[in-house]
Amino acid sequence: MVDIKKGPLLITGNWKMFKTIKEGCDFLQNLAPQIQRSQAAISFAVPFTAIFSLSDLVKENKMPFSIGAQNIASEKEGPFTGEISARMVSEAGSNFTLIGHSERRWLFHETDELVNKKIKLALSEGLAPHVCIGETLDEREQGKTKNVIEKQIEGSLQGLTDEEISKVVLAYEPVWAIGTGKVAKSEEANEVHAFCRELLAKKWKSGKGVPIQYGGSVTPENANSLLAQPHIDGLLVGGASLKADTFAQIINFQGSNV
Ligand code: PGA
Repeated sequence: MVDIKKGPLLITGNWKMFKTIKEGCDFLQNLAPQIQRSQAAISFAVPFTAIFSLSDLVKENKMPFSIGAQNIASEKEGPFTGEISARMVSEAGSNFTLIGHSERRWLFHETDELVNKKIKLALSEGLAPHVCIGETLDEREQGKTKNVIEKQIEGSLQGLTDEEISKVVLAYEPVWAIGTGKVAKSEEANEVHAFCRELLAKKWKSGKGVPIQYGGSVTPENANSLLAQPHIDGLLVGGASLKADTFAQIINFQGSNV
């Protein structure tokens, strides 16, 4: 078992295809005064259209948030109508991007190979890749969770150097827990996180330091017990990140209890 020392917690809101520019600005202005003494680094993966305005708002008002994208194209540039490049989202003010979220993998057929290309492009533009992995219900019921996770980690992170791996954030999001209200039990999630950490530590010198977030039906009610687990370094929050009051409870709760 790899021993760990928890760094600062990373809590990311994933807004998916919710919030216009105005709604996003209102949200951050509403949330900022509600942050108490959070020990977490707080970030938001926002719709492309809102990246520029939100990162500007955050800088201007010295808000303790960082802004990122939810996806990037798998090519640097070119005739790819409707796509957005790593360079574009970086110039717009993103510090990071989600890559390989299960909605991308399942609805848009993204493979580990494609995810790997995107990770390398993100890194080349100075964006921290937040790489999502996780098994489906079927895979879990067939006892294949660890095989699936191992394959996703190997395929997605293939060819990364030690220095590159130190910029990656991993998010374990069991597909069956996303948006379903079914959260993984804290201990079960922790076991998968420990497995991921061992794999990362085996392959890269800096692998054991890669922060691993949990995602899937996180709420103010379950956040604290998840964060109390030794291998859970943060949370990737979908639905519960859409209301400032609810998200503030997740952030403030961990600040005073973990
Ligand atoms: P959820 O989404 O919190 O609504 O389950 C998590 C995610 O998709 O990242």
